[in-house]
Amino acid sequence: MAGQIPQRFIDDLLARVDVVEVVGERVKLKKAGRNHSGLCPFHQEKSPSFTVSADKQFYHCFGCGAHGNALRFLMEYENLRFPEAVEQLAARLGMEVPREGADDPRAQARERKRKEGVNLLELSASFYRERLKMPEAEAARRYLAERGLSPEMQQAFAIGYAPAGWDVLKRHLLERGVADAVQIEYGLLVHHEDSGRTYDRFRDRVMFPIRDIRGRTIAFGGRVLGDAKPKYLNSPETPVFHKGRELYGLYEARQANPRLERLVIVEGYMDVVALAQFGIRNAVATLGTSTSDEHLGRLFRMVGEVVFCFDGDRAGRQAAARALETVLPQMIDGRQARFMFLPEGEDPDTLVRREGAEAFEDRITCASPLSEFLFDHAAEGRDLGSIEARERFASQVLSAIGKLPEGVLKSLLLTELSRRTGVDQTHFEALLSREVAEASPPDMSPASAEPMPPSSGERPSEAGRGQASLGRMARALQLLVHEPGLVERLPEDDDWCDQSDPEAGLCREVVRLLRAGGYRSAQVLLAHFHGTPEGERLAALARQEPLVPRGLRGAELDNWVAYFQRHRRQQSPQEEYDALLARMQAGERLSQEQRQRLGELLTELKG
Ligand code: GTP
Ligand code: MN
Repeated sequence: MAGQIPQRFIDDLLARVDVVEVVGERVKLKKAGRNHSGLCPFHQEKSPSFTVSADKQFYHCFGCGAHGNALRFLMEYENLRFPEAVEQLAARLGMEVPREGADDPRAQARERKRKEGVNLLELSASFYRERLKMPEAEAARRYLAERGLSPEMQQAFAIGYAPAGWDVLKRHLLERGVADAVQIEYGLLVHHEDSGRTYDRFRDRVMFPIRDIRGRTIAFGGRVLGDAKPKYLNSPETPVFHKGRELYGLYEARQANPRLERLVIVEGYMDVVALAQFGIRNAVATLGTSTSDEHLGRLFRMVGEVVFCFDGDRAGRQAAARALETVLPQMIDGRQARFMFLPEGEDPDTLVRREGAEAFEDRITCASPLSEFLFDHAAEGRDLGSIEARERFASQVLSAIGKLPEGVLKSLLLTELSRRTGVDQTHFEALLSREVAEASPPDMSPASAEPMPPSSGERPSEAGRGQASLGRMARALQLLVHEPGLVERLPEDDDWCDQSDPEAGLCREVVRLLRAGGYRSAQVLLAHFHGTPEGERLAALARQEPLVPRGLRGAELDNWVAYFQRHRRQQSPQEEYDALLARMQAGERLSQEQRQRLGELLTELKG
């Protein structure tokens, strides 16, 4: 019955609803200038990077990049599907959601099919659970008992048993009106091309349902009771299951603790269940694949810390190296990744049973931070006494550092690399920025005179000269766009950008955003302004290379600021007064000093 929701209705709905209200009901927000800000609900943080704009009807997190409108917020926050989020918003406004072609047979068929898919997986899951209780499942129950799986855990993970016949599930589902074709589509029934026959995919196996974050069964993993091959069989890709995206145990972990702060990634189903049984309820497993960036994106939206757990053998080290590559680009400030290695021949299941929960927890606590693993891994098999080996060591570490987003971690690692190699840090910084420049398309700036930062004594007009017609404030802005981390060098008080310069307003806004968000990458800054004239201006500045080596940019900015400060003092009292007043009227909170200055000016002008 439910057809498509007309786009017109969605537009109308979004025009009537206020994103600040929708978010504000769920996240504590504080007004900050024209926007609201608060702690991001999609990742762990201690200082607010999450802003909601009433003007743009948009939320954005500078920390994790989550963004969108009121509907997207509801979908992400409440785990709703799109139509459900629309229904919920409409309900609060007392609106009825219209459906297009509610009597269109194709829409009906689509809807029926979706329901069938969901139903059929749930039906199968309860079928497997029921079968585990029957006499035919004697061997399966014995197997689970031998592996030490408690009845509580079997229930918490909804473990079941697929009977040994060729078509037991098939007949069960047919009786409930689920056609062969649908069973095939959802991976429960296999169609044998040559014979034209169909048979149950899972036979005589212990069944682990794979559930999505809302607890709906989306696929299965099945284990043989003995040593037959293949040991595990997973559902194939289906309309609701994508192996490279899902994690076993995530739903169960959140059930056990909705306020998770850390997740441990292990390899197997049995590892997740065994750890849970010993009270370690925050383990998840990929489904026989290596950890993908989709997996990590998902995990980091839920927790601030991810611990990778690997076997101590060679394959484990290799898997860890792959995980390192995948996690590097995701390491924005505030996130943590650590690596733990188990003794050879053990997996979490065997180890936690042998040494107990406390010892295993200790291993998690002692897992190497990313930085340590990065250096250890690069040093592996190299005699760092030799210069050549040290060079290769440094290149490997530097190439990893180059994959990190801008942030504190990146700076700290560069410092550490410099300490360990005895090579000056600015040298590594220059190498890194050269790599970036080589990787980016040629810019439009003339490759002329070597640009120099202004020296503190004189007017620093030389610096921007490499790029025709770039104003002074624009130059400062450009440096900030390229290296948002420079915001930390700026004076607390942003009087320095209180100029008649046309770029001053934007510059102040950028500084404020960078401070509020603690944000360190140009991309998200640009994303915030996306679609606005300011956004275009910033993007243009970002496209031009600043032509000054990274290590010197901070000094250049300092000099510009000093210049602006000197220049500001030359404003007439009337100009200075007008500028301060305008800022106050725009809703900005003036500092103590600024308020005092305003008073002085008032007296001066009146007198
Ligand atoms: P147990 O022997 O039951 O303890 O399994 P395990 O969890 O220790 O398995 P192992 O370390 O061998 O494998 C880890 C994970 O890889 C499993 O949980 C599966 O997801 C996957 N896997 C293992 N063997 C197979 C297989 O034969 N086929 C497929 N598709 N996946 C497998
Ligand atoms: Mn195992």
